[in-house]
Amino acid sequence: MWDSLWVDVGLATMAGSTPYGRIEDGAIAVKNGRIAWVGARADLTGPIEGLASIVHQADGGWITPALIDCHTHIVHGGQRAGEFERRLMGASYADIARAGGGILSTVNATRRASEEELLAAATRRLRPLLAEGVTAIEIKSGYGLDLDTELKMLRVARAIEARLPVAVTTTFLGAHAVPPEWMNDADGYVDFVCDEVLPGAVEQGLVDQVDAFCEGIAFSPAQVARVFEAAALFKLPVKLHAEQLSDLGGAALAAAAGALSADHLEYLGPDGIEAMAESGTVAVLLPGAFFTLQETRRPPVARLRKAGVPIAVATDSNPGSSPVTSLLVTMNMACVLFGLTPAEALAGTTLNAARALGLQNDRGSLEVGKVADFVHWAIEEPAELAYRIGFNPCTTVIRNGVPTLAG
Ligand code: NIG
Ligand code: FE
Repeated sequence: MWDSLWVDVGLATMAGSTPYGRIEDGAIAVKNGRIAWVGARADLTGPIEGLASIVHQADGGWITPALIDCHTHIVHGGQRAGEFERRLMGASYADIARAGGGILSTVNATRRASEEELLAAATRRLRPLLAEGVTAIEIKSGYGLDLDTELKMLRVARAIEARLPVAVTTTFLGAHAVPPEWMNDADGYVDFVCDEVLPGAVEQGLVDQVDAFCEGIAFSPAQVARVFEAAALFKLPVKLHAEQLSDLGGAALAAAAGALSADHLEYLGPDGIEAMAESGTVAVLLPGAFFTLQETRRPPVARLRKAGVPIAVATDSNPGSSPVTSLLVTMNMACVLFGLTPAEALAGTTLNAARALGLQNDRGSLEVGKVADFVHWAIEEPAELAYRIGFNPCTTVIRNGVPTLAG
C-alpha cells in the first residue's frame, strides 16, 4: 500500500531518451517520501482506491520533477540599481568592477548586514522561486571575502534550509573577487582563502562544494588551480565561473579537476567543450546574466549538444549581473536567447541541474527511488513552462511526497 498516488495527469518524467520522458495518462505513487511507482495509469493493476492511502485526482495538467536552481548568489546585502542605471548610460560591467563597484559594492553591503537581515532579504527573493516549484537550490558565498563574512553568508544559507521548504547546497566562493584589503596582492589573498577561510568554513560544516571566478577582472587559471587543490584536500567537488567575458581556458581547467559544472561559458572554445564532454562536466547556462549585461556572444549550444555535454539552466540570482528571481523566465530566456528547446530548458532546471550539484541519484527526474519532490502545473503541454513570460501555472508543490502549497 502506497502513502499517496496521483492520477489523471500527464507526466514529464525527464527520464529516458525521449523529450520530457512523456507519459500522457500517467500515475505516480509515493511511499516514505520517495517515488515508489511511476508509469502509465493503464499499467496499474486493480481498483486505484485500494493502492494508496490518499488518491489525488489531478484533473488534467502535468506533473514534472520539482525545479532546481543550481547557481545562485541569492544571499547578499544591498542592491545595485545605481549600476543598472550606469550601464544603461553606457558603462560596462567590467568598467564598474574595475572602478571598485560591482561585486565589491555588494561585499561592503554584505559585511555590514546582520545575519537576520541577510536571511530576511534572501527569504523575500526566494519566495517567488519556491512558488514556481523550486525545492532545491544552490547558494554561494563570495560577498564576504573575509573569514567572518564568508562564514556568515554560509550560515545564512544553512538557515534557509532549516526555515524554508527547500534543500540547500552551499558553495564556497571565497575566490569571487580580490577584496580591498588585498588589492595589490591577489596571490596572497588566494593563499588566505585556501589556508584560512576555506578550512574554517569546512570545519564548521558549512561547505558542500567549491567555486571560483576565473576572469580578467577576477582570478587567473593558476590561482583557480590553487583553489581547486585546496578543495581536493577536503574532498569537496568543484565548479567554476568560466568563460563569461573572455576565454581563459577555465572550463578545461575545471574539467581536468573533475568539476561538477562550468558555468556561464559564452566564450567557451572547442578545447573546453571537448574537455567537458570527456569529464562529464555539466554546462550551466545563465541567460539572466547575458540578458542583463546585454551581451551579444552566445554560449556554443549547438556544439555542446553535439558533444553530448549535459546542459543546465540557472538564474545566477545576484544583485549585479542577474537580478532574477524566476526560473521559469530564465527557461524562456534560455530558449529565446540561447536556442534551447523547451524540453532542453526543462531538463536544464531538473535532471541536469541535479547533475550540476551531484544530486542526480536523489533528484531531477520522476524515477522510482528518488525523493518525491514534484510539481503539478495547470498546463496542456510541458512546453508551456518555457513559453509564457511572467505567468506561473504551478498549482501544487509536492515535497517529500507531501503537497506543500496550493496556489
Ligand atoms: O555569476 N561572474 C561572477 N559572479 C556573478 C556576478 C556577481 C555580481 O555581479 O555581483 C555572476 O554573474
Ligand atoms: Fe554566478
